[in-house]
Amino acid sequence: MDAERPASSASSTVVGPVSRPDEPERVNLHVLKLVEYMPAAVLLLEADQSILYSNRAAKLLAQVLSPVQGGAPRIHVQDWHPQLVPPDALELCRLRGTWSGNVTLDLPHRSSRVLQVKINALGERGGAPYGLSLRDVTLEHCRQLELNLRNSELEVALARLSNVQEAVLKTEKLASIGQLAAGVAHEINNPMAYVKSNLNALRHDIFQLLSETRARLDGQPLSEDEGIDIEEVASEIRDLIAESCEGVDRVVKIVRDLKDFSHVDRIDNWVLADLHAGLESTLNIVRNELKYKAHIVKTFGELPLIECLSSELNQVFMNILMNAGQALDNYGVITVTTERYGDKVRVSIGDDGKGIPEDVLPRIFDPFYTTKIVGEGTGLGLAISYGIVAKHHGTIEVTSVPGQGTLFLIELPIEQPRSRGMES
Ligand SMILES: Nc1ncnc2c1ncn2[C@@H]1O[C@H](COP(=O)(O)OP(=O)(O)OP(=O)(O)O)[C@@H](O)[C@H]1O
Ligand SMILES: [Mg+2]
Repeated sequence: MDAERPASSASSTVVGPVSRPDEPERVNLHVLKLVEYMPAAVLLLEADQSILYSNRAAKLLAQVLSPVQGGAPRIHVQDWHPQLVPPDALELCRLRGTWSGNVTLDLPHRSSRVLQVKINALGERGGAPYGLSLRDVTLEHCRQLELNLRNSELEVALARLSNVQEAVLKTEKLASIGQLAAGVAHEINNPMAYVKSNLNALRHDIFQLLSETRARLDGQPLSEDEGIDIEEVASEIRDLIAESCEGVDRVVKIVRDLKDFSHVDRIDNWVLADLHAGLESTLNIVRNELKYKAHIVKTFGELPLIECLSSELNQVFMNILMNAGQALDNYGVITVTTERYGDKVRVSIGDDGKGIPEDVLPRIFDPFYTTKIVGEGTGLGLAISYGIVAKHHGTIEVTSVPGQGTLFLIELPIEQPRSRGMES
C-alpha cells in the first residue's frame, strides 16, 4: 500500500490506482477481499494505535503473538505485542510518510520472533490511518545470524591459521638450523679433538723435559736409554703448539661464521652488508653437508655493500645450497657466482644435479611442496626464500634441465626503494 501523496509530488511515471469510474464500489469490494486473503499480515491503525482493520493473516499472527488473550477483542496494536510498533515509528512516519524496519518480539518461554514491519501514512499530510504490513522473517533472521556466526568463526580460524603458518615457518627455520648445528658441532669437534691430543702429547714432552733438566741440575744426567734429545723434543713441542693454534683458529672462525650467519640480534635489522661475507660464512656453515658431495666453484665479481637483512639473505643462500647438495646423486659441482648489474646485484647458484622436471618447476616455490621423502624435506625452504627476496624488492628465478642441472638467479637492489634508517 502506498501512502497518499500530495498531487504536486505525483509524476508522470507513477502508475496510480486503476479503477473503472462507473464501478468504484465493486472494485473496492474486491480490493478489500484481496487484502483480506493476502498471505502478509495487514492492519489499519488510528493515530492512537487502535486497530481499524486487520486481515486474516494478521489475526492469525495475533494468536501467535499473544495466545493468552484467546478470543478477547484487541483494541490496540499494543494488545498484540507491546514491541510491535517501536515508540518513534509512527512519529517518523508522520514526518516522512513511511517507516520500515525489523522488530524483534520477545515471546513466552524465552522464544522470540522477528517481523519486518512497514508502515505507510494513508491520511492527509502523514496522518492517520496508518497501513501496517507485517512479514515474519524469523527464519531469514536466524539464517543471517548463523551466517554472521560462521563468518566470525571463519575469521578466527583464518587468524589462527596465519599464526600457525608463521609458527611453522619459524619451526622450519629452527629445524634447518638444528640440522646444521649437528654438522657445525662435528666441524668444531675435529679441531678440538686434535688440540686435546696435542695437549696430552705436550704434557708428556714437558714432563720429560723437566725431568731431564732437574736431573742435570742435580748433577745426575739420565743414562742414554732414559735420556731425551732436547732439540728433538723442543721441535716437537713447537709443532704441537703451532698445530693446536691452527685448530683453535679454526674453531674461532667457525664460531665467527655462525655469528655472521645468524646475526639475529634485532628484528628487521636492515644494514649495509657485504654479500660475499654472507656467502662465505654460509658456505662454511654448510661445508659439512656438502664436502663429500660437491666441489664448490666460487666466481665472485666486484660488489658494493647492499642494503639488506643480511641474516635473512644468508638463510636464502643456505636453502638453495642445501637443495643443490640434495640434488646431487653423485659427486658434482656447485657454482656460486656474483656480479653487479646496474643498480642491482646478482647471485647465481647452480648445480649439475638431477634437475627439476617440467611439471614440478611451477610448484617449487609453493609452501609445503616437496618431492623429498617424509622427514627429508618440508617443502618450505624455497617458499621462505621467495618471501625473503620479495621483502628485499628482489627477484628469484630458476632454470633447470632435467638430468643436467639447475640454476637459481637472485637479483637484489643495491638500495631499497624507500630509504630506511641505517644501522651503524
Ligand atoms: N637444485 C635443485 N635441484 C633439483 N630440485 C630442486 C632443487 N631445488 C629445489 N628443488 C625441488 O624443489 C622442491 C622444493 O624445494 P624446497 O627447498 O622448497 O623444499 P625441500 O627442499 O623439499 O624441503 P625443505 O627445504 O623444507 O627441507 C624440492 O623438493 C625439489 O623437488
Ligand atoms: Mg630445501
